[in-house]
Amino acid sequence: MEETILLLLLLPPLLALIIVVGIIIKAAAAAAARTHRQNLPPGPYSWPIIGNVPHMLKGPHIYLTQLARSYGPLCSVKLGTHLFVVGSSPMAATEIMRAHDRLPTYRWVPKAGQDGLQQYSLIWATECTHHWKLLRSLCRTELFSAKGLESQSCLREKNVDSMVGFLKRKQGSLVNVREMVFAVTVNILGNICFSKDFIELESGEKETSRGLRGALYRLMKLGTTPNIADFYPKFEGLDPQGLKKKTSEAMDEAFDVWADIIKERRNIREAQKGIDSAGGDQQDFLDTMIGCGFSDLQINQLTVELFSGGTHSTASTIEWALAELLKNKDAMFAIREELVKELGSTTCIKESQTSKSVY
Ligand code: HEM
Repeated sequence: MEETILLLLLLPPLLALIIVVGIIIKAAAAAAARTHRQNLPPGPYSWPIIGNVPHMLKGPHIYLTQLARSYGPLCSVKLGTHLFVVGSSPMAATEIMRAHDRLPTYRWVPKAGQDGLQQYSLIWATECTHHWKLLRSLCRTELFSAKGLESQSCLREKNVDSMVGFLKRKQGSLVNVREMVFAVTVNILGNICFSKDFIELESGEKETSRGLRGALYRLMKLGTTPNIADFYPKFEGLDPQGLKKKTSEAMDEAFDVWADIIKERRNIREAQKGIDSAGGDQQDFLDTMIGCGFSDLQINQLTVELFSGGTHSTASTIEWALAELLKNKDAMFAIREELVKELGSTTCIKESQTSKSVY
């Protein structure tokens, strides 16, 4: 009886204490959030749980342009459970990539690309493994170093020559610049990796076609489609939009394109084992990868990443540069002058000539 009275007496102060402690914790959390927010660039109001996802779904490029107009070149935006800092000017990009390089080197990898092959991935690697370091150093030495680039110059010149021939044949008719540059870039990479052209320049625009062109288009579209699983990682296993499945199918389609080439090359190398070629054979990147002991899966993953990283990026940059030149007559005039000065009347363009063009 006495215990019950004591409990009844203590209950109101206990409840008051719990409420006061609750208020203090909440106020401290709000203050911490404010301090945290103070260190962030400005950004739009974000709704609980969904953040700014609905705006993003209308088109990330449109929404991010609107944000840059409203909040300047550096802003923060919440997408689902993730907070993003967006840089949208050359200066902001330079600052992020150069001054704070260590933070973005932890690359954010879209869930659609995480299909179990990341252990062999260069661009979509989620961890800096031993294999990832090997891939980086292999690409740097063989493909992107001055020596590597120099050794591929004749392959690029050959493909640019085909493009100039194609443009001559098309004189007076419409040309889809993006499609043409895309095809030329696929062929340049095709020659570097497999000593093979994969796309006929004359084959025209076939975004939905099967084969390498179609697979690379699909990969680009799937990789840039906003994915709910990226905003709410808990949904990753469900793959709600089927993006992971479709990405995996598109990658398999690309792998099929060169499967026979890899098989044949392995057979040739096996047959030639022990025969001294006296270093006379021209090696392509496939030879280098096989020479490094890569499995077919490792070759497939690296190659598809090089093709998907190098083709649309180049095609859209050139299309954009040409569109800007059309808008800016002075720049177009200066470029024409310089080309006439460096190249004269020849249409057979050498890289050594273009590198002299300062404009
Ligand atoms: C105008 C054309 C291009 C643009 C705008 C572009 C843009 C980029 C960007 C922004 C990155 C990320 C850099 C980073 O996270 O530090 C990157 C990485 C990469 N790009 Fe490109 N790229 C272009 C052409 C190419 C080409 C032609 C290739 C292949 C032949 C290529 C292959 C790669 C690879 C392999 C990586 C990952 C590098 C690494 O992790 O070491 N890119 N690119």
